[in-house]
Order: sequence, then C-alpha cells, then structure tokens
Amino acid sequence: MTSHPPVSLQLRETATPVSPLLFGHFIEFAENCIDGGICDPKSPASDEHGIRQDVLALAKNLRPTILRFPGGTFANIYHWMDGVGPMDARRRRKNLIWGGITDNRFGTAEFISYCRALGAEPMLCVNMASGTAQEAAEWVEYCNGEAGTHYADLRAAHGYPEPFRVRYWCIGNESYAEPDLGAQHDPDRYISDAWEFTKHMKLMDPTLKLIFVGNSEDPAWNRKILEALSPVCDYISFHHYSGEGSRGTYGPFLSLMEFRENLVSLISTVRDGSHRSVPFNPWYRFPRRAEDIRLAIDEWNIWNPMPSGDNNRYGLRTVYTWRDALWTACMMNTLLRHAQDIGIANLAQMVNVLSPIMTDGDRAYVQPTYHVLKLYRDHMEGMLMECTSDSPVIHTASGDVPMLDAAACRHPGGTLRLFLVSLSKEDPLMISLPEAFRLRECTLLQAPDFDAFNTPGRDVVSTTQGSVSGGDIILPPAAVCAAVLEDA
Ligand code: AHR
Repeated sequence: MTSHPPVSLQLRETATPVSPLLFGHFIEFAENCIDGGICDPKSPASDEHGIRQDVLALAKNLRPTILRFPGGTFANIYHWMDGVGPMDARRRRKNLIWGGITDNRFGTAEFISYCRALGAEPMLCVNMASGTAQEAAEWVEYCNGEAGTHYADLRAAHGYPEPFRVRYWCIGNESYAEPDLGAQHDPDRYISDAWEFTKHMKLMDPTLKLIFVGNSEDPAWNRKILEALSPVCDYISFHHYSGEGSRGTYGPFLSLMEFRENLVSLISTVRDGSHRSVPFNPWYRFPRRAEDIRLAIDEWNIWNPMPSGDNNRYGLRTVYTWRDALWTACMMNTLLRHAQDIGIANLAQMVNVLSPIMTDGDRAYVQPTYHVLKLYRDHMEGMLMECTSDSPVIHTASGDVPMLDAAACRHPGGTLRLFLVSLSKEDPLMISLPEAFRLRECTLLQAPDFDAFNTPGRDVVSTTQGSVSGGDIILPPAAVCAAVLEDA
C-alpha cells in the first residue's frame, strides 16, 4: 500500500442542465434479452401476458428514463407488422442476425406497455435494410396517429384507442457497418435513404425527434451526415463498447479514455453541424430542427471477449465483474461531464445480453454493474458542476490511468452530488473537499476485489456509509462513492 498526498477537487457551477434521458436502456431481439428475459410465457415468474415480473421489478428499480427497441443490428430485419394484433396470428421468423426464432409476441403494444410500466420514454429504431420508408411511416401512423386513418384505426382495433405518442425514432442502426445487412454502408447512400425516411415519417408526424447514425470512429462520416441532414437532425448517434483487448485489467479504462478523447472532437463536429446554415426547402412541409443537435450515445457498455460456446455465441451473455462496475461508474461520469452535448444515452442492453439484469431459469439476479447504475440514477440530476482533481495515476504497460475519476452536479434539492470512483486496487485516497462545501453523507459501493462477480443468490457488492474526517472523504480502494455535500 502506498500513501498518496490528499487529492484536491475543484468544483464550479455551470448553467448546464443534465438531461434526464441519460438513464436509458436498450432491449433487442438478441439471444434471451427479450424472448426469455423480458418475456417468457413458460416462466412461473411471468404474468398472464408472459412478462417476467421479477425482471420487470429489477428494471423498475433502476427507473430507466428511455428504452430503445427492437435493435441494434436486429432492426435491419424487423417488420413491425409482425408484432401487432392477435397473438395467434403473429408471424414467427428466423432471427437471421442473432439466431433462433423470433415469435413476435413482444411487439409494439407490449413494448409501449413495458415502457409505461417503467416510466420510460419509448425509442424505436426503424429498419433501413429490408424495410422501406413507407413501412416506417406506417409504423409512425400506427403509434402516433389519431383515429380516422388505416393504421391508427388498426391500433384502436387492437385495443389501444389512445395514440402511443412515440417521440424518439432512430433512423437506422450502425448503417456504416459493412458486415451488417443493409443498403447504405457509405455516407452518401445513407444520406439519401435517410432523407427519404425523414420525409415519409415527418410528414406523418412533424413532432418526431430523429436520431441519425453517426460513427464514433469516422469523423468524415459524421461531417457528411451533419452537412446534409443538419436541418432535420435532432440527435446524432454514437455507440461505444470498451474492451479489455490485450491490455489487461485496465484495458477497458484505457479504451474509455480513448473514447473520451474522441468525444471531444465528435462534440466539436456536432456543434459545427448544429450551426451550419443548410438551405431548407419550405416545400418539405414540415418544420426544420429548432434546437441544437445533441449526441445520443444510444449503445454503450463494456464488452469483453468471452469464451464463446453454443450458449454464448457472440459473448453477449457477459459476466460482469466489480472491475466492470467501476468502469460503468467512469462511463456515467463521462456522460455527466458532457451533459452540455449528450442528450440521450442507452446502456446496451438491459436483460441477459451485456446486461445488469440476468435470468437463470426461473430466478432473476443482478450483476455488480446494476448497483452502480442505481446509485447514479438516485443522485445524478440537476445542473452539471465542473469537477477537476489532481489525481495520482496508475502506471500500466499500456499507459497511465488516473486513480480517481470524479464528476459532480447540483441537485434540484439544492445539495451537491459528487461521484468518486477509485481505480486503485489497494491504495485509499484522501479527497480534500473545497472549503465552500461540507460533507453531509456518503454512499459507498465496494466488492472484495476487482474480479468479484455475482451468481444467482450471491451478491458481492456491499453498500455502506463512507468515513468522514474533518470535511475530507477517505475513499477506499476500488470503490464508488456518491457524496451529498451542502454549502458551508
Ligand atoms: O448490443 C449488441 C449489438 O452491438 C447491437 O445489435 C449493435 O447495434 C451493436 O453493434
């Protein structure tokens, strides 16, 4: 154990509200995320509609604010009409992306009910590969149309007279990914198809908020998308999965640091795009974007290679360790620090697939990452506070990683919430608070070591109150802390 000099924090108020939509989740027809996780008619834990109540209760506890569906890559083969109307007439299709059969018993209405049960905004992703712009617009009509047109009336005939009022629509998913099904794979093609989808969908409902596909690794793609689509682009989507690679335990943190560097340039491209004056033809017959373009990090997580077998073909059934939970806290800090530009973020995914919530037969349990997500959901709200520190670093063979990751916000209740993550395996850190603030309480998450993981019925994460010493915080190694501070 080494002793480090006290780490001092600088905190500064800002006028930047933190978007409530940073607590998003994502569910896809991938392995047993939806079928077998969210929805499992054979499970005794399910209600009469086949919805697993144990999973729903765990999801509710996280209070997601927005939920994305039905993919991901799967969106490229999804036809919404397969998942509406009477169950016995729903179409069973081969899941060409992730394997198995999709029986479509969890369709649009079931998704909307699930969102309502969670208190989350629905976010739908349209099929730009095997689907058409007209099909997407008809989905908009089915969801949002008032009575009196074919698909709005169809929704009513299915038992839902009130419009679902879905505001957030993703125009494709990772359309740059050449191995995926799809027609685009080049920005010009994407732009021309995306315009077609936009026209059909916006004419159906001009209030939609559209999310276009960005590429976190290709600035040229982003510039082109923003140059062309800026007048109608409410959000540009970026996905980020950190991995260990060959860089060992701290690999995902190095990967996150690289993403953070990228984010700075992505943000400046998006800010430019926001203010670009692109001509907009009034004959489009729907209004142009009125607010600044924001980022939607609509898939993020840690995705480590797993030994893949028949039951885990793509390494999606990931076992998350306490190290991964620390990474999750660092990612939440990243989202908070960029609150000015990030409007939406969705953890990928919510159940069983790269997930904080798992099922094991008829039992549901949580991974260590779950506790971190809950802690941030309980505290991260209000106005961003700038937070900097003089953290010591951890030297690794692949680069230095700061030992402390810190972020803060001013809570609507008036207190300040400080998020501290220690990445040290053995050294405690003494955090000196600025004189203007006094520590009121501090919730601390810890686990026995970096590699600890949960199994059904065994949770390695402990929650305690942290030690307080003369206005300082003693942060134990490998811990996440949410501190409540008041003005001194
Ligand atoms: O979340 C798993 C997959 O990762 C999604 O389907 C895809 O969008 C991404 O590449």
